Amino acid sequence: MKKLVIAIDGPAGAGKSTVAQIVARKMGYVYIDTGAMYRAVTWLALRQNLTVKDAAAIGDLAAGAVIELTYAAGKLVVLANGEDVTGPIRTPEVTGWVAEISQILPVREAMLVLQRNMAARGGVVMDGRDIASRVLPDADVKVFLTASIEERARRRWKEMLDKGYTVDLEELKREIADRDRKDYEREYAPLIQTEDAVLVDTTAMSIEAAVDEILKICEEKSGGI
Ligand code: DC
Repeated sequence: MKKLVIAIDGPAGAGKSTVAQIVARKMGYVYIDTGAMYRAVTWLALRQNLTVKDAAAIGDLAAGAVIELTYAAGKLVVLANGEDVTGPIRTPEVTGWVAEISQILPVREAMLVLQRNMAARGGVVMDGRDIASRVLPDADVKVFLTASIEERARRRWKEMLDKGYTVDLEELKREIADRDRKDYEREYAPLIQTEDAVLVDTTAMSIEAAVDEILKICEEKSGGI
């Protein structure tokens, strides 16, 4: 059976990583979280006290960085230049800067090369913002996963709470709206739903239902998996 390449794009908090991970597990595929890669570059830049004004230096940093996505006990582990940054890349500080850092063209070009290499052998589920439109335009399955901004903010709020952060829901909604704006309106590789992508709106949908819908699309594509 042909190993599919599955692209899942969508805005922050739509449930992409949760859904993509389960789809990958059920199909025996590799899950590639491209947001984590941009977060790792952001973390490296912040640690060197670089700001968006230092775009050229951040571009060099990204081009020379070794970003690895590995698994330990079934959980995604992100390494940046050999250092485990799985926890640090989810802090509010990194989340606050990542949409800006990911607008830097040399950063995007460096990640594009890494991501295409990771997907080269097929059997991957890759999630992000520009996967169907730019990274893997020939993907076998393209899904645009979204949800209302209220629902996405509520999910992030709960996620943060579970991690021990106290955040204001309205504040979070503003932050997500701001990140949406940056992701949708940026000059290079903005977030878009490509014409050949299937829209999956998870506002009133459980994780299981979203997974089932994507598996159904994959099944139709491969003629039974
Ligand atoms: O999916 P996430 O919230 O972890 O992504 C963090 C940021 O990374 C997001 O705001 C924009 C950027 N990103 C991107 O520009 N392109 C991708 N393919 C994935 C993420």
